[in-house]
Amino acid sequence: MNRVLEPEFMDDPEQTQAYAQTDFSKENEYFINEFRRCFPDFRSGSVIDLGCGPADIPIRLVQALPNCRVIGIDASRPMIQLGEKAITTAQLHDCIQLRCETIQRTFLPALADAVISNSVLHHLPLPMDFWTTITRLAKPSAPVLIMDLARPQSTTIAQIIVDQYAHHEQEILRRDFYNSMLAAFTHEEVSVQLSESGLGHFVITCPDDRHWIAHGHLV
Ligand SMILES: C[S@@+](CC[C@H](N)C(=O)[O-])C[C@H]1O[C@@H](n2cnc3c(N)ncnc32)[C@H](O)[C@@H]1O
Repeated sequence: MNRVLEPEFMDDPEQTQAYAQTDFSKENEYFINEFRRCFPDFRSGSVIDLGCGPADIPIRLVQALPNCRVIGIDASRPMIQLGEKAITTAQLHDCIQLRCETIQRTFLPALADAVISNSVLHHLPLPMDFWTTITRLAKPSAPVLIMDLARPQSTTIAQIIVDQYAHHEQEILRRDFYNSMLAAFTHEEVSVQLSESGLGHFVITCPDDRHWIAHGHLV
């Protein structure tokens, strides 16, 4: 099945509200645990989260690693507003800074010590923008952990996955999940992108039937 693009930014308030209300704790906790497992020596420093959404992952990261600081970037104003609210509730404004801008145009005053991103690559029309941004914004040797959906072989399988994992979710969330699966890259396509970005040494695996996850150090 060929890739079908979905809108790059999630800036419809109803859509962002539905996303923020969905319980992604299992996926997000897995992501944090993977970061700690892959980079056990990384305990402090600045971490950039590309496409941070409602900031659940930045919050979980600084709760797990209190000496880290996170800069979350998202081009969606409603997402950033929901993220700010969550950070206020968690009382973590000292540790997490959110910026409403595109990752392609982000410039940091200092290069980041680490990069994370979950469920964002599939939003980009040009995937190489994503990998170039990572190498542009972080220090040499910085740890990087990226996870995203994997495109299934057919629309039928995409629908089966939506029905299996999101049968109880709001319709708007089910629609976005389905569209995201169609817009996602396969494990093989991501491997090619990594090689072409000079990141061919990254390790990429499929933790379940709908995700891939890649990690490694920048050169
Ligand atoms: C599916 S959400 C994932 C949010 C978050 N990473 C998480 O795991 O919950 C994707 C987010 O990426 C943002 N996004 C997509 N393309 C972007 C870009 N080029 N620059 C900044 N944000 C982008 C969207 O606005 C959206 O909030």
